[in-house]
Amino acid sequence: MKISKILLLAFFIIKLSFFAIADEGMWIPMLLQKYNIEDMQKKGFKLTAEDIYSINKASMKDAVMLFGRGCTGELISDKGLVITNHHCGYGAIQSHSSVEHDYLTNGFWAKTQADELDNPGLTVTFLVKMEDVTNDVLENINENLPEQEKQKIINDNIEKIKAEAIKGTIYEAELKPFFNGNAYYLFINKVYTDIRLVGAPPSAIGKFGGDTDNWMWPRHTGDFSLFRIYANKNNEPAKYNKDNVPFKPKKYFPISLKGFEKDDFTMVFGYPGRTQEYLSSYAVKNIMDIINPNRIKIRDTKLSIMKADMETSPKIRIQYSAKAAHVANSWKKWIGQNRGLKRLDAINKKQEFEKQLTEWINADENRKAKYGNLLPTYKKIYKTLEPLDYVEQYMFEAIFGIETINYTWKFNKLEQLEGDKQKEAIEKFKKTIHGHFKNFNLETDKKIFAALYKMYADSVPDEYQLELVKMVNKKYKGNFNKYANKIYSKSIFTDEKRLTSFLNNFSLKKLKADPFYSATMNLINIYRQKIATTTQNINFQIIDLNKKYMKAIMEYKKEKLLYPDANLTLRVTYGKINTYEPRDGVVYKYFTTLDGIIAKDNPEIYDYDVPDKLKELYKNKDYGQYADKDGTIHTCFIATNHTTGGNSGSPVINGNGELIGVNFDRNWEGTMSDIMYDPDQCRNISLDIRYALFLIDKYAGATRLIDEMTLVK
Ligand code: ARG
Ligand code: GLU
Repeated sequence: MKISKILLLAFFIIKLSFFAIADEGMWIPMLLQKYNIEDMQKKGFKLTAEDIYSINKASMKDAVMLFGRGCTGELISDKGLVITNHHCGYGAIQSHSSVEHDYLTNGFWAKTQADELDNPGLTVTFLVKMEDVTNDVLENINENLPEQEKQKIINDNIEKIKAEAIKGTIYEAELKPFFNGNAYYLFINKVYTDIRLVGAPPSAIGKFGGDTDNWMWPRHTGDFSLFRIYANKNNEPAKYNKDNVPFKPKKYFPISLKGFEKDDFTMVFGYPGRTQEYLSSYAVKNIMDIINPNRIKIRDTKLSIMKADMETSPKIRIQYSAKAAHVANSWKKWIGQNRGLKRLDAINKKQEFEKQLTEWINADENRKAKYGNLLPTYKKIYKTLEPLDYVEQYMFEAIFGIETINYTWKFNKLEQLEGDKQKEAIEKFKKTIHGHFKNFNLETDKKIFAALYKMYADSVPDEYQLELVKMVNKKYKGNFNKYANKIYSKSIFTDEKRLTSFLNNFSLKKLKADPFYSATMNLINIYRQKIATTTQNINFQIIDLNKKYMKAIMEYKKEKLLYPDANLTLRVTYGKINTYEPRDGVVYKYFTTLDGIIAKDNPEIYDYDVPDKLKELYKNKDYGQYADKDGTIHTCFIATNHTTGGNSGSPVINGNGELIGVNFDRNWEGTMSDIMYDPDQCRNISLDIRYALFLIDKYAGATRLIDEMTLVK
């Protein structure tokens, strides 16, 4: 293992055996051996670092995959069986659902392997190996070059290294910056493309609690689905083919039926997407004061319109449930994040840290020359950025949050293309139109349009105002509803027939004359002229600053083991099963049970409508081998593992390397962990694997799947 100088600096830690690492951190699997393993073992991990990540023998990394583009999955049998979340498999389940076969509502269980359903476009990605390539990427970089030029050389180097690394292989390469560009890692991946749907519980179980319970503890969601990886006869990736055979993995997880207790060791192994733990106080303030509140406000409006309409008809409920869930998910997270950051007094904490850092910088002439400018420059830059960031929220969250505007923008492609390429694109569009309109309710979108344009009109300074807003103010006395009525009844983009006939007789002139198209282009032009030119430049400066700031922190904190921000690469986080105290006088237990599901049962409330079959199993206490030793079925549990979006579906592993759960969420009090982790409040929420097995076996009767697994009793 070759480690660059800068990483040695990052991890320059004196190996004191009493040195304990906090539960915070998303660690690089390749470096566990060097930095974390002793600490992990002290906390209850019984295996070795090589058991987690090894390039010489089968290790856990061979059983963990990036599922699709933003979730994690793990292998649970030697026949390529994969478990991930229900919300990660949702798109696949939905794509096979129709009125006759409503798998979302009723669940789906393939009777035999031949009944498993293929999912074009779905992939799973395994990490073959990773390598520190910092020195190669930063070769020939003159620190004095302008950031834009440096980035160009870096990008060229990255492309070269990637191409070289996979030349003549079936692998794919990825190369990503760590520690804000102070280190670079190369990832060699193997991508399987024949992934079939094996099973999913009904949404009333897999999405139990819906958006009401989302991001909350206590929780009772049976958030899992099952897939199987298929390979060609040589066990290698292949496109879907009915002759493909179940993939034979090097490693899969044994499953523990033994349960666990408070304070037991847990480890989560998966693909966390993005964290920002090393931001300056200025950036955190920008998120807390500008970005989050305005996005929340805009989504409040949008969600209330969607929800009101969904209540009026089952058809609209079906059309908008996935969309509303998507909008509500981040909305709710941001609300929690802002509360958590306030509660933590995050800005003051950051400022205090910056004060100490500044003292340290100023104590040495050399350091002063290198880092003296950092914080004052941040301050200046965020002052310029704030008003622009503010307008951007209204441009992208509000106007581009209008479905028809967003949809129209896709057709801009046709303006860029010519001849055959254009014809090809038109044909492609034609195939997708029906799918778009199937889930589109004109009245709902129209209300959202009027409300969000009005918000833009009321919130954004004159110099960024849009033609449409000016026109509606003048001609319609600011009545956006009235104008919306007009364009929604006329535009090409609000009606399947009109759009189809337009594409059948494509004309650029007609495209440009469409009111949605011109509104979209007007927004884009104002953005380009008045915002992008400034922000692009600033963003390059920020990249440069962030890199230097990170380096300063690494030098300043050299006795502390630092972890790089999440960047959708494979990471290990470890901690323990634990309770927490959300408010004074209240302690939350670490697990929930089927009793809690039954207590929430209410056929009147969509999110809490428990299926009869589940109630029957409960009544008969027909729990098989899946009950806890307390006699109940445990459904979900919490632990201190530091996770984020992308960790959905990740294996939760006990000290023996056995699967005890599937990660699917975080608690609301802890969602600020993407920016600042608090060991007292931050918990990840997982599905107890025994609840999943109980459902597969007792609820679905899919015993053939249980038989494939290795159960540890
Ligand atoms: N909050 C979880 C995550 O960020 C689950 C989201 C899906 N569930 C939902 N009810 N919207 O992905
Ligand atoms: N539900 C999230 C996901 O899809 C995980 C929750 C989180 O942000 O930690 O990845």
